[in-house]
Amino acid sequence: MAIPLVGTVVNLIDTADKSTPPLSSPTLTPSSIACLSTKGRLFSTGSDHIPGKNIEEPVKVEEAETVNVLPPPSEKLLVLGGNGFVGSHVCREALEHGLSVSSLSRSGRSSVHGAWADQVIWHQGNLLVPETWKDVLNGVTSVISCVGGFGSNSYMYKINGTANINAIRAAAEQGVKRFVYISAADFSIANFILQGYYEGKKAAEVELMSKFPYGGVILRPGFIYGTRQVGSVKLPLGVIGSPMAMILQHAKPLNRVPLIGPLFLPPVNVTSVAKVAVRGSTDPAFPPGAVDVYGIMRFAQQN
Ligand SMILES: NC(=O)c1ccc[n+]([C@@H]2O[C@H](COP(=O)([O-])OP(=O)(O)OC[C@H]3O[C@@H](n4cnc5c(N)ncnc54)[C@H](OP(=O)(O)O)[C@@H]3O)[C@@H](O)[C@H]2O)c1
Repeated sequence: MAIPLVGTVVNLIDTADKSTPPLSSPTLTPSSIACLSTKGRLFSTGSDHIPGKNIEEPVKVEEAETVNVLPPPSEKLLVLGGNGFVGSHVCREALEHGLSVSSLSRSGRSSVHGAWADQVIWHQGNLLVPETWKDVLNGVTSVISCVGGFGSNSYMYKINGTANINAIRAAAEQGVKRFVYISAADFSIANFILQGYYEGKKAAEVELMSKFPYGGVILRPGFIYGTRQVGSVKLPLGVIGSPMAMILQHAKPLNRVPLIGPLFLPPVNVTSVAKVAVRGSTDPAFPPGAVDVYGIMRFAQQN
């Protein structure tokens, strides 16, 4: 976070000459010049002469002049899919960090409830139709994309891949500093069932690292659990809609396949994903590249 800087112009006060009036009466003789810094420390410049001044004549300091150095523009975060399960938690986390938050999705705010939602600027637009969101990136310093979904293979490629690639390119052109993409863990053997989903995710990841080699962060969770809001109802099963749930729902025969390794990935809480996403989008020291589920859990435990 940016810290506002307020500086005070240095004050010239004689401290060495004991015959001069006390500091409360701000006069100066140039036999010794001392500077009062903003931290209140006195230090001598060692100069004995001010050109053009009679050295016997005290210089009256009328008053200290305060200069307000404007803080850098505040962080402006755009959450793509801020009305979704992960996106809404990302918005809340970012607001708690004092960021200015906006969201873009096809349905805008849709059915998102809660006081926090009133603090978000909701834009309606489709990432697959660039004319519908061309001004949304104005002034934005970082982006977190929570856009993804399921359907036919071609639809999954478009929503996970093309939509995010469009956003990554536009953000790079606008000079956005950091971009976090919520991708997904690789389920290797099961990937062919959701081919479009994983191919889309991979294509977006490649584009992100090519356009944001220093400010691009990819989060690869497996299961994400937490409270999912559907209309005014809160479902405690965030796992619904995860790639693994889709695989198990659509491919019953796979239950008999000895799927080892990736299926044992630990589920991760949606608040942890949101926390790491917001940090990755604002902390310039956050390392670029992919973060797996263990990395997400590790970063989420850090303050
Ligand atoms: N949930 C999990 O367990 C899990 C696990 C691993 C990875 N992930 C990944 O995490 C991300 C978020 O998942 P989620 O569960 O939060 O999904 P979600 O609730 O379905 O949210 C998806 C968001 O994307 C928006 N969106 C979809 N297509 C769009 C488009 N063309 N233009 C603009 N916005 C669009 C949706 O809003 P509109 O419908 O209003 O457009 C919605 O806000 C996804 O990429 C998902 O693949 C999720």
